[in-house]
Amino acid sequence: MKTMSSAEVREAFVDFFEEMGHRPIASSSLVPADDPTLLFVNAGMVQFKDVFLGIDKRDYSRATTSQKCMRVSGKHNDLENVGPSPRHHTFFEMLGNFSFGDYFKRDAIKYAYTLLTEVYELPADRLVFTVYENDDEAYSAWTDELGVDPKRVARMGPDTNFWQMADTGPCGPTSEIHWDKSPELGEDEIILKLQAEDDRFLEIWNLVFMQFNRQQADPEHSGQWDLPLPAPGVDTGMGLERIVSIMQGVEANYKTDLFTPIIARTQELTGHSDAERDANIVPYRVIADHIRAAVFLISDGVYPGAKGRAAIPRIVIRRAARFGSKIGFDRPFLADVADAVFAVMGDYFSELLVDAENIKRVITLEEERFHRTMDRGLNELDEMLAALKAGGRLSGADAFYLKATLGLPFQVTKDVAEERGFAVDEAGFASAEAEHALISGGGQAMGAIESGEFYRQLLADLQAAGELSSSGVDYAPYSDTPVDTTVLALVQDGARLESAIVGETVEVILAKTQFYAEAGGQISDAGTIAGDAWAIDVVEMKRPLSGLIAHVGEVVEGNPAVGAKATASLDVARRKDIIRNHTATHLLHAALRNNLGKHVQQRGSLVAPDRLRFESRRMS
Ligand code: SER
Repeated sequence: MKTMSSAEVREAFVDFFEEMGHRPIASSSLVPADDPTLLFVNAGMVQFKDVFLGIDKRDYSRATTSQKCMRVSGKHNDLENVGPSPRHHTFFEMLGNFSFGDYFKRDAIKYAYTLLTEVYELPADRLVFTVYENDDEAYSAWTDELGVDPKRVARMGPDTNFWQMADTGPCGPTSEIHWDKSPELGEDEIILKLQAEDDRFLEIWNLVFMQFNRQQADPEHSGQWDLPLPAPGVDTGMGLERIVSIMQGVEANYKTDLFTPIIARTQELTGHSDAERDANIVPYRVIADHIRAAVFLISDGVYPGAKGRAAIPRIVIRRAARFGSKIGFDRPFLADVADAVFAVMGDYFSELLVDAENIKRVITLEEERFHRTMDRGLNELDEMLAALKAGGRLSGADAFYLKATLGLPFQVTKDVAEERGFAVDEAGFASAEAEHALISGGGQAMGAIESGEFYRQLLADLQAAGELSSSGVDYAPYSDTPVDTTVLALVQDGARLESAIVGETVEVILAKTQFYAEAGGQISDAGTIAGDAWAIDVVEMKRPLSGLIAHVGEVVEGNPAVGAKATASLDVARRKDIIRNHTATHLLHAALRNNLGKHVQQRGSLVAPDRLRFESRRMS
């Protein structure tokens, strides 16, 4: 069999379909455009969803892509399998060809077979096939038209052979192509083993015959919510990592050239021998998978945070960091491993290289945040588990406390508990979280918009309650000593909260502050606000209206609440750097006027801790 590199496999796929009249289209972002049904793009067809539905028209009816995908939530979630499984990933690439009302089953099947047997030169006697139970057309395309022995084609039910992107949307019956790992076992049991989903076969390519638009969830596959699409189409998906493992003759995706440089980089950092690495293969795999996911998510603008999409880079970075601690990393190391991802993926996804330094910075920042709280979180978890009876279950309230107060992601709590033989009450965790959202006011915040009106009302309310004077917040930016004060309000997404949990980004209104809020080119101060067992890292300041000053930051410890006593402390070194650059701006102005003449006028400036910019107008 011939061997190909991952870059060659990807290129040969796209070239083949281009020759067959398909337009090569770039991968879309991992963040679906305007699709509330989906957290992340999880298949190649997502960017074409509206084309299948007939809502969007393109000037081509055939397309081919290598699409960035994430499967971490909803219908397609592989997060927990990553590590123990040699083949599961959160982030992966899907090769696909698409027909929008152009060709249908017969051609899709013929193209797939030709590519595998003639371009990749896979032996036909290693390939077996499935079709949807009543799909005679697909069955006959394999057996009659391509002459495949009927012993190699299984009819299967909707669990395996009906594909849907989410509970609703485009869907249809499928035909799958599998790789036979043990051809020496003969043909007689192929159908039975396929139907039993036996490990003998590895699914490599899914051909979906898009025929319906599902209007409502239909777990029984009764078909009653399926409306026909305006024109039937084809959506195929082949996981790049899997087909590469076959082309490179290795039994795990992690042994392909997509992953070995990442694992080798990690190994260089640990100093493990190959035997030590293999004895610790789960952490190595988790790190390799999660660092790819983190790099691609951040590159697509999804930064770590507490909620929604932002929770995913946080989970993968923290989970990778925890598995890293199992193989000896006690300091941030993932940015170093990320360099290997840029080396492997940067040729095809050149956007990664443009943003590499920023991506590494964001990863390290998140790892640092995790390290700050991880020890305490893991220690408390240890104590909780020690108090459980063998085989017991950690309560949802405890798991929520670990997340909300100590920043331990639920997934990490679950990993640790399971490693020690304990379960975690997931439903209890979900309801504790939902309860918090209600109590904190987060439930009401849904849909609220940030507006001048909101802040005017907030200021008026605080003044009416006698918490602020008519001039508003007591603003004292000339001082740099810590200020003891009170939390008057917490704001998130244009709504007030009563309290916040670790990981949430909030705006904090204090009765008094010495934090400078950006005006006239000098950038805002940063620092911390801390109280009894809670702390917020302030990264930005806002002055939404005169009299109201908000500190924007992330809760890094505990649960700050309205009314709490707080101490606001500036990052004084940073403030001093800003002042020096401010002074330097004046010196520069004076020097320019002395040397070039009095006509040099300052038109604008930027004064930051690490740089300044002086703007002038050219006088003719
Ligand atoms: N949408 C199908 C899948 O994800 C084929 O691309 O498997």
